[in-house]
Amino acid sequence: MKLTVVIPTYNEAENVPKLIPALRRALEGIDYELLFVDDDSPDGTWRIVEEEQRKDARVRLLRRVGRRGLGSAIVEGIRAARGEFVVVMDADFQHPPELVPLLLREAERGAEVVVASRYRQGGGVRGWSLARRVISWGASLLAYLLLGEARKTSDPVSGFFLVKRGLNMEGVEGRGYKVLLEILAANPGAKVAEVPYVFSPRAAGRSKLGARDIADYALQVIWLSRPLRFALVGASGVLVNLGSMALLLSLGLPVDLASLTAIELSIAWNFSLHELWTFGSGFSRGVLRRYLGYHASVLAGALTQYLVMRLLYTLLSLNPLLGQLIGVFAGFLLNYALSRSLVWR
Ligand code: GDD
Ligand code: MN
Repeated sequence: MKLTVVIPTYNEAENVPKLIPALRRALEGIDYELLFVDDDSPDGTWRIVEEEQRKDARVRLLRRVGRRGLGSAIVEGIRAARGEFVVVMDADFQHPPELVPLLLREAERGAEVVVASRYRQGGGVRGWSLARRVISWGASLLAYLLLGEARKTSDPVSGFFLVKRGLNMEGVEGRGYKVLLEILAANPGAKVAEVPYVFSPRAAGRSKLGARDIADYALQVIWLSRPLRFALVGASGVLVNLGSMALLLSLGLPVDLASLTAIELSIAWNFSLHELWTFGSGFSRGVLRRYLGYHASVLAGALTQYLVMRLLYTLLSLNPLLGQLIGVFAGFLLNYALSRSLVWR
């Protein structure tokens, strides 16, 4: 089978009966299936799909009960797809059915991800409020600034895209609203193409994009951003560093020994979290080499920490804990740059 069109639906009973014939027309001559992923819509969207399925074997229904979420619906749809290529689109005609064959054409020319883009020459949005424009623009900007993968497309928050089946879907969970970004992140080498289109107002029904989805999205982008994960781990390491130093000082250890021990503890802590989370190596082969490499890369930062603390303590009699904290900040940027270029590359 050439193509699966995955259509997540929630309360689209008015749109689905029109969408199916429109897609049928647009996809004439192509071997395809339409896969609706419905989260048990209260308005009975799934019942309409079920009926169509009885008449036309190319229509399939994946009805999820007790679960909800656009992102996870899309991911489940992609996983269940049988086509060589998979297009994901809204059910509400905001994504024109006529565009699907154009996405497919780009894929047959070799692209593995094809994004339908509102922000390419010839694309655009119709009938959006200023607020909605600002949100969409802000979401794109956030992704652009934080995620390298987002820079491969002019519309990183597009909900209308094609992926070639067989792309790596490991780690793609659809936690937030933005599956496309997750897929791009999981496939750094994928060839990406774009097709412009105009995003128009909904044919019927209401948008399900709410304030919560926007917050989810921002969290997801942060989660995907390696520099930010690195910074979060570093922040937790600061707590370990200062916490253990306070403890050691209270046990009566001399300042220098307390400082250096606390620094080493925080290095071990950070390293473990970078293995598990930031870089995801999971203590796999070569962990010892990486542990030593990490020490080499943080050595300058650690020395900076210690020396700044020592200097402030000697010269200004500054509280050693406060001095250590200031030292931590001085060493942080250095650590990131060195880890990235020397250890995990
Ligand atoms: N199964 C399932 N579960 N489907 C859902 C859910 C859900 O929880 N929430 C929404 N959908 C379906 C809708 O029925 C629709 O077919 C599609 O997913 C997109 O939802 P909309 O409510 O129409 O979203 P939107 O139009 O506001 O947002 C669109 O544009 C954004 C870009 O500005 C979507 O295409 C987004 O993906 C896109 O980022
Ligand atoms: Mn929509």
